[in-house]
Amino acid sequence: MFKQSAILKFTTLYRLGRPLTTGMTILPVDEDALGPIDAITRFDCSIDENGLTLTHTLLPHDRVFGLGQTLGAFNKRGKVYRLYATDDPVHTPDKDCLYGSHPFLIVEGAETFGVFLDYPAEIIIDIGFTQDDLLRIRITNVDVDIYVFDGLGITVKDIVREFLTLTGSPYVPPKWAFGYHQSRWSYPDEKSITELGKMFRQKGFPCDAIYMDIDYMDNYKVFTISEERFVDFERFVVSMKRDGFRLVPIIDPAVKVERGYGVCREGMEDGYFCRDTDGDLFVAAVWPGFAYLPDFHNRKTRKWWGGLHKRFIEAGIEGFWNDMNEPSIFYTPQAVNEFYDTVQYMKHNGFDKEGVIPMSNRPEYFQDIVHTDDAGNPVPHNSIHNLYGFNMAQATIEGFNEYMPGQRYFLLSRSSCTGTHRIAGIWTGDNMSWWEHLLSHIRMLMSLNIAGFFYCGADIGGFGCNTYAELMIRWMQLGVFSPLCRNHSAMGTRYQEPWGFGHGAFELMREAIRLRYALLPYTYSEYMRCVRRLEPFISPLFDAKDVEDQFMYGDSIMVAPIYQPNARGRYVTLPSTKSVPEQKTGSILEQNGRQKRTRWLLWRCSRYDVRNVEVYEAGVYYMGAELGEMLIFIMENSLVTLTHPVEYIGQAACRSLTVIGFVTDKATFSHYEDDGSTFKYKEGCFSTLDIVIERDGDDYDIMLSRNEHEDVPIAITELLFEIYDESGHKACRRVAA
Ligand code: GLC
Repeated sequence: MFKQSAILKFTTLYRLGRPLTTGMTILPVDEDALGPIDAITRFDCSIDENGLTLTHTLLPHDRVFGLGQTLGAFNKRGKVYRLYATDDPVHTPDKDCLYGSHPFLIVEGAETFGVFLDYPAEIIIDIGFTQDDLLRIRITNVDVDIYVFDGLGITVKDIVREFLTLTGSPYVPPKWAFGYHQSRWSYPDEKSITELGKMFRQKGFPCDAIYMDIDYMDNYKVFTISEERFVDFERFVVSMKRDGFRLVPIIDPAVKVERGYGVCREGMEDGYFCRDTDGDLFVAAVWPGFAYLPDFHNRKTRKWWGGLHKRFIEAGIEGFWNDMNEPSIFYTPQAVNEFYDTVQYMKHNGFDKEGVIPMSNRPEYFQDIVHTDDAGNPVPHNSIHNLYGFNMAQATIEGFNEYMPGQRYFLLSRSSCTGTHRIAGIWTGDNMSWWEHLLSHIRMLMSLNIAGFFYCGADIGGFGCNTYAELMIRWMQLGVFSPLCRNHSAMGTRYQEPWGFGHGAFELMREAIRLRYALLPYTYSEYMRCVRRLEPFISPLFDAKDVEDQFMYGDSIMVAPIYQPNARGRYVTLPSTKSVPEQKTGSILEQNGRQKRTRWLLWRCSRYDVRNVEVYEAGVYYMGAELGEMLIFIMENSLVTLTHPVEYIGQAACRSLTVIGFVTDKATFSHYEDDGSTFKYKEGCFSTLDIVIERDGDDYDIMLSRNEHEDVPIAITELLFEIYDESGHKACRRVAA
């Protein structure tokens, strides 16, 4: 029934039928090496007229991780998930799907294994909901590639590493993307954006990017810029950049149906739009009203779409956010007619109790869309639904490659599938100013990182509903440790800029974001190490598996965010770490042995210098944290690097590095630098400064070694060491680099 082939050490492909090439994986499959096989390991498999069903019996203590962007707990047991990219603006716990499809799961327990379905249409995954010990995966089409990650002694890290070897290493944005981003629906004109920028600089609140939501356009027509609101866009982009701000315009897929609008005309003339099942152009209403949907499944359309970014990129725009690309459909002309009839009917027969008819994203809209593949054959939309956002991102990249070749670009996409993680970051869509969504943000950071989306984040402060000072402060404190750190809010909600909640709240948020900028050397070094080694940058505490509200940020820092109202502290689990990071690359770091890691240095942090530290043994503790304080922990025998925060990344070279160590034996860290703006790091164009601190009685030996690439000289001239021992005593040293 299946064809099978070993792909990597632990990875086996089971192929059924003739699956479409989706682009989710990057490793070639040797057709000749595929041997026939009846059974698939770990699963029972059945095929009937409804499609394929895979089942696996879960043991009582098995945990199930993965599925990237889904609601609910980090351990996915006890819910049904539907992987069908959907614009759902109300993320309540009962919802079964969101904007992305990441069909990668890990079962961890007495026997640990992983599974990934390279499949672009709807997948239903029931993880112990219908029957508590049953994992059931259902798809309707039986053309599919199923990858199983399995083998003796396999760990979760092995599974993630092979999954990322198979599907490609995670997206690396330009370095400025690790700064703070400010967004709002909308800052509609040059004046509002200029004033916003001035406020950030006047108030000394670091900021690197300002977003332009849909109102910058002329009548929501994509690739237009309102001339009334932006008199000289090109000059404006340059002047904002001079002040250290990158502008990030939104690009939606829907192209307004309008005579005389160039993008619409070109798309119609050259056949770049999706059709309906009758062969006419498919019409959907989105922000611009009635619109056509580009057929991103088609190579020619992607090339054309990429080209449309020319004016923006040539003006100096280095990043975009792609939205509404599930695709989202408010209604169609047919639905309006039906709606009209229904309203007439209701007028005469009485309205139902809600008095509303759900119009958006009805299943019948998607059944009516038809794509055309590169050979000219029709492809029903629902057979490739989850690829739409991915293909749109690939179309955008056509533009970057053409107009800023070799440069790292910034791209955020709302909809995504596996594969998108190689080329873009994502945000988690329209959350609300709810404490529950702050907790969701924590969980999604972990599950998205496992799915390869290292660069991700949620709208800080909440998109919908009104936020308030305390929620803003706590969310900003989590934002410090969110790879994408973007404050975004919806039209009609309370203004959410950091100064909108009183001076006291402002100062606390500013200190938090300054800490983010101070941590940049650590963050960037660790992010790049994780990309190179294919390990999640943000990970759960693998040694305290039921803890879902704390996470590791790189190898040295554990974060325990406060996510409840009126809380002035929380319970924290400090695990005793059995697994020690494996050997790091680089000469002197290779001596890294197995150190004991059972203690933690609590850094109760209210600003970017390290004070208020205490040493804790492994255990569970209630720890106080005033509103301005974050609970950050440095793992025993590890190092964290800090610098002086700037107003925007690149404002000043990092010349002095503070190294905070909690060293009872030996600790190592590899400080990493590259140009921050090109892809040359892939060819080895980066430098490292390796730091080793070894305890020698009451003293420490410090060893430094530089591995410098001639194009990336390390600017650091001095290092300040603050090293804590098991009693919390601090030793300080200043060393010339
Ligand atoms: C969608 C996006 C949101 C954006 C809005 C207007 O709801 O998710 O981020 O602000 O559209 O463009």
